[in-house]
Amino acid sequence: MEPNLLVLGGTAEAARLCRALAGAGLRGTVSLAGRVASPAAQALPLRIGGFGGVEGLASHLQAERITHVIDATHPFAAQMSANAVAACRAAGVPLIALSRAPWEETAADRWIRVPDMAGAVSALAGPRRRVMLAVGRMHLADFAAQAQHVYLLRLVDPPEAPLDFPDHHVVVDRGPFGLESDRRLMREHRIDLVVSKNSGGSGAFAKIAAARELGLPVIMIDRPALPARRETHEVEEVLRWLDHAGTDLGV
Ligand SMILES: NC(=O)c1ccc[n+]([C@@H]2O[C@H](COP(=O)([O-])OP(=O)(O)OC[C@H]3O[C@@H](n4cnc5c(N)ncnc54)[C@H](OP(=O)(O)O)[C@@H]3O)[C@@H](O)[C@H]2O)c1
Repeated sequence: MEPNLLVLGGTAEAARLCRALAGAGLRGTVSLAGRVASPAAQALPLRIGGFGGVEGLASHLQAERITHVIDATHPFAAQMSANAVAACRAAGVPLIALSRAPWEETAADRWIRVPDMAGAVSALAGPRRRVMLAVGRMHLADFAAQAQHVYLLRLVDPPEAPLDFPDHHVVVDRGPFGLESDRRLMREHRIDLVVSKNSGGSGAFAKIAAARELGLPVIMIDRPALPARRETHEVEEVLRWLDHAGTDLGV
């Protein structure tokens, strides 16, 4: 049977994978959640929007006769990744995840590690500080509980509604970001603390490297737990797996 791939995307790695798949002449679709107003161009045909949970995704796999699923979503897209494992198992479709290794703390870093978003909010208790909050749009509301700080927010799209922070500045920009510009941004805004997800990869690392150089503490949010699945960090490994996947479900 000719492969018909479904790539769960929304990351630079997914975009790179799609270029490799298209370059290899493979047929497939890339799926985005629809969170950003104008998504980056994709090398495979695009579908946008949720599937409707595990059942919706399993039905989609069957209706579209998907032969393989590649989960290349962000490491914090835990719901989507868990749904992919369950739906692939239910529909009997082989799955592989293309993920990024987490960032590792070095002796030059000042990380305060927290297990989740709530942990990051709690770690911000205390006197007013100038905080670069790099957690994405979806979780901003959680931080309204610590409204005493001055926040620098970097978002892909301008906020649709007023934000719940009395003192904040929004920078609208999308990665990848550079060390030089992130260092400049932190200096300009006299940042004294960064909050970040441990996303891994290179596109969002500049702020961590800049904080390291400037000697700033980083509240680093650990990754959510995911169900066991076949996983690689290499696009080439996905291509090799597609050659051999056959009926090995990998989940
Ligand atoms: N979380 C982050 O920090 C982050 C950062 C950068 C990029 N992204 C990207 O943004 C998207 C959403 O992330 P999230 O953390 O909001 O996801 P999530 O919390 O794991 O997913 C929530 C729901 O959104 C839908 N969804 C998520 N990713 C999808 C995709 N690629 N295609 C179709 N539906 C999708 C699914 O809806 P249904 O249940 O209806 O199927 C899913 O159950 C993902 O594509 C991810 O790669 C996320």
